Amino acid sequence: MANSKYEYVKCFEVEDEVMFPSIILVWINAYKLQKPCEANTLRLMNCCAVEVLEEYADVVLAYGFSDEYTFVFKKTTKFYKRRASKVLSIITSFFSSVFVRKWGEFFPQKELQCPPSFHGRVIACASTEALQAYLLWRQNICHLGNQREQCLWRLVEHGMNEMEAQDLIKGFEKSDLNNLLFDEFNVNYISLEPIFRQGSCVLKTMGEDIVKYTDNGAPIKRHRRKIVTVHSKKIASRRFWNEQTILLKELGDFVEEINNVSLEYVRSFEFDSKLMPSTWIVVRIDGCHFHRFSEIHEFAKPNDDRALNLMNSCAVAILEKFWEDVVFAYGVSDEYSFILNKNSNLYQRRANKIISAIVSYFTSTYVMRWKDFFAQSELKYPPSFDGRAVCYPSTEIIRDYLSWRQVDCHINNQYNSCFWKLVASRKSKREAQNSLKGAQLQKKIEELAIDYNKLPIMYRQGSSIYREKVDNVLMHQENEESTECYGKVIVEHIDIIGPTFWLEHPNILDE
Ligand code: GTP
Ligand code: MG
Repeated sequence: MANSKYEYVKCFEVEDEVMFPSIILVWINAYKLQKPCEANTLRLMNCCAVEVLEEYADVVLAYGFSDEYTFVFKKTTKFYKRRASKVLSIITSFFSSVFVRKWGEFFPQKELQCPPSFHGRVIACASTEALQAYLLWRQNICHLGNQREQCLWRLVEHGMNEMEAQDLIKGFEKSDLNNLLFDEFNVNYISLEPIFRQGSCVLKTMGEDIVKYTDNGAPIKRHRRKIVTVHSKKIASRRFWNEQTILLKELGDFVEEINNVSLEYVRSFEFDSKLMPSTWIVVRIDGCHFHRFSEIHEFAKPNDDRALNLMNSCAVAILEKFWEDVVFAYGVSDEYSFILNKNSNLYQRRANKIISAIVSYFTSTYVMRWKDFFAQSELKYPPSFDGRAVCYPSTEIIRDYLSWRQVDCHINNQYNSCFWKLVASRKSKREAQNSLKGAQLQKKIEELAIDYNKLPIMYRQGSSIYREKVDNVLMHQENEESTECYGKVIVEHIDIIGPTFWLEHPNILDE
């Protein structure tokens, strides 16, 4: 299809490949998960982790506790060509999707109140020793964090407020915490469930299935990769690790036993660059394999109002949640671009944190609101989105970026209108494709007598979302902290290439 003069904006995209042979880890953390974590919340998190390992063959190990999970890719993975933002966003998005879908199984009596949001980062371990140090570090944090939580929430249960309880245990060592539990609450720490004390390790092992029996009754077995969840005491020990044949094969062996890690050492593995200050940030998300997703869920062709309105509703939710930062959004098909203010300091402009938080919240909203738009059609499997962040240095270029996306919308929509008209006139899909190859779409539209301008404007222009400007008088009356003073969020289907809209709304891209 034709290129537009706006395509040059692609050159602002930067590479964020994690170079081989570093081992790629994705760490995700729930934003404000209800505390204390119940055992059921941990089981739900484990269930999501198991699904991640089932879905993505290259993820060979996961370790989680409390409100966090780490996923470890095999050393040689080429998953999304090792691009950090893609790898992180897809795992975070899929995890969020499963979390919402499975919620009811673990909390049948308790409705999920609001879309959960996970954010994360990529960690690049330069060697198997570095991975071992990372795992030891996380499991130590699990031990210590859990002892603190067990004390903290018991103190709160017994009438202290959270601050007082925090103050009381500040500076407590392991033994002090154990003593407090025993003396005050008659709890022997060691008797608490291992899921709390040790965390959960999800891994792939080799299992044997009996497929059939021979005539004389001997079983015929087949080897199969199985996913198991264990709560092992020392996941960074040689003894645990070197028994796992798949981990040995895909990640290498642990040569020595280690007992200590320095915080500076493990912190140095974090892979999260900051986005350039004073530039517009665009976070673009895109549905993963939505061609298949749209077929399986029988989306109307080429445009399905339910699907597009669901996407719009999730984008509105993003503008409402990130109301201080996201100033405009433009969406078409399975993609959405969110523009963050030039001066935004969201998560100190850390790229991966911004991408994962937005993609996660978008995905969980998508799953939670599915039924509002597809009342008759069940969600058959968890959808996921990928994301990336790109910086644009001037208002002129950010407008070119938006023009690029809207031109793309025009071209795709013209193409799809012709394609499905041809298919409706009994051409095969291949014939339709061939007849459109290199064709002038405008001419084809006339030839096929498509009344293009009569098509719903949402299909032709995509959807633009922004906040209505509120005048100063009203702003002073409102509570400064309230989103109200930033105006109602509006969804429109308008031309954003020409100057008219921007002249009428100078505040949106106001620097
Ligand atoms: P990746 O993004 O690379 O994972 O592939 P993808 O399959 O998601 O394709 P891409 O993002 O390039 O394009 C989006 C696809 O989603 C379209 O090609 C359509 O097949 C499908 N899609 C999105 N919106 C609609 C819709 O309203 N109706 C129908 N029928 N399909 C849609
Ligand atoms: Mg897609």
